[in-house]
Amino acid sequence: MPATVVVGTQWGDEGKGKLTDLLAKDVRLVVRYQGGHNAGHTVVVDGESFTLQLVPSGVLYPSTVPVIGNGVVVDPAVLVAECDALEARGVDTSRLVVSGNAHLIMPYHYELDRATERSLGRNKLGTTKRGIGPAYADKAARVGLRVQDLLDARIFRQKLEIALREKNAVLARVHNRLALDEEEIAHRYLDELAPRVGPMVGDAVALVHDALDAGEHVMLEGAQATFLDLDHGTYPFVTSSNPTAGGACVGAGIGPRDVDRVVGIAKSYVTRVGAGPFPTELHGELADLLVERGHEYGTNTGRRRRPGWLDLVMLRHAVRLNSVSEIALTKLDVLTGLPSVKVCVAYDDSGERLERFPYHQSVLHRVVPVYEEMPGWEEDISGVTRAEELPAAARDYVGRIAAAAGVPVSLVGVGPGREQFVRFAA
Ligand code: GDP
Ligand code: IMO
Ligand code: MG
Repeated sequence: MPATVVVGTQWGDEGKGKLTDLLAKDVRLVVRYQGGHNAGHTVVVDGESFTLQLVPSGVLYPSTVPVIGNGVVVDPAVLVAECDALEARGVDTSRLVVSGNAHLIMPYHYELDRATERSLGRNKLGTTKRGIGPAYADKAARVGLRVQDLLDARIFRQKLEIALREKNAVLARVHNRLALDEEEIAHRYLDELAPRVGPMVGDAVALVHDALDAGEHVMLEGAQATFLDLDHGTYPFVTSSNPTAGGACVGAGIGPRDVDRVVGIAKSYVTRVGAGPFPTELHGELADLLVERGHEYGTNTGRRRRPGWLDLVMLRHAVRLNSVSEIALTKLDVLTGLPSVKVCVAYDDSGERLERFPYHQSVLHRVVPVYEEMPGWEEDISGVTRAEELPAAARDYVGRIAAAAGVPVSLVGVGPGREQFVRFAA
């Protein structure tokens, strides 16, 4: 059976965790394919909320094997802590497999992430300060340490020595920071963390292909989102990996022909955390209302998310970039009670109407959204389970989105709980 990709179509926090969990029920493997613990994916089951950073959202089903793919960057301390916290709440994490080819986040990556943000001053990106960018930079520069290096102390130390020589020089001379101690790092990673992570390490690519060959269902869970993609996002206000569906192939070790379903997750409005352009951003009372109703504070960092109206120009672009086959729309319930709702259908660039997402960042910074206003609805929809039970105005809103995107909206979220969704017929 071919694989399914779950991908964010905006700037993250669309509800990928909830949707992955929902769709993972009958799935054999759930693979995280990129990012690291900059992600925070929430799954709410029977009123209990789980926030997952590195562990794939399929972990809550006893029959699903969660896999951390080669495309992920792993802080082994965070991984161990996350597994311990899940175990303490009765979730079995013993099936978790971590690709030996995934790269490690090292202490100097945190230092460099923080130092770079500091030196950028008011031009800072607003990263999660988790060392993500520097870890991927080392991967590209071919000086990264990988998860498999935890299993070989000699190689680990050799690579650490080479990396640390340069990192300490940069930290001291460029950023005026103290040097990091090689022995301390080696002790922490090799003596404390390797014995815990070692048993999880495996050949993730083989696992994925064995499952596909056996006709089993594989799900690829994206972190971050399309407009945070290193290549396709609003550079430089992006993350350092490829969340788009192409990245799912690279980060899990499959080819495009192994994927037949791409579920694009879209929030019913848009949020962004961190700096960067955001054409439909709202300020004032309406912004506060969306933030409070939608609990729009970072799952990990606690930062307030910037809210805005749904941007259909972005959504159409995301459908193309990811070859999205269907959309799952989340948080429709948050819009309940607004007298009217708006969607951005085009951009106005000094009198010129743009239907397509501009490739040039300066254009994106200056465009003004062209809105279409639609009637709102008053009825509480958080308990609705069938499309026919939704108020007509809510159904029209969903219909407008599907029409603009050119693909069906198959699922609509009406609350954070696993069971709070409405299925739409294609
Ligand atoms: P992710 O990073 O894409 O997995 O999303 P987050 O978990 O960071 O943020 C999404 C938030 O919205 C979480 O708190 C979810 O519990 C919540 N959520 C997801 N779907 C819905 C929905 O349909 N309605 C409401 N009200 N909340 C939702
Ligand atoms: P999930 O998977 C929202 C943002 C950061 C910053 C930029 C770069 O929960 O949707 P980084 O630490 O990755 O170098 O930061 O990316 N960012 C996210 N925003 N959701 C996320 O993950 C994010 N992961 C990173 O705020 O703007
Ligand atoms: Mg999140």
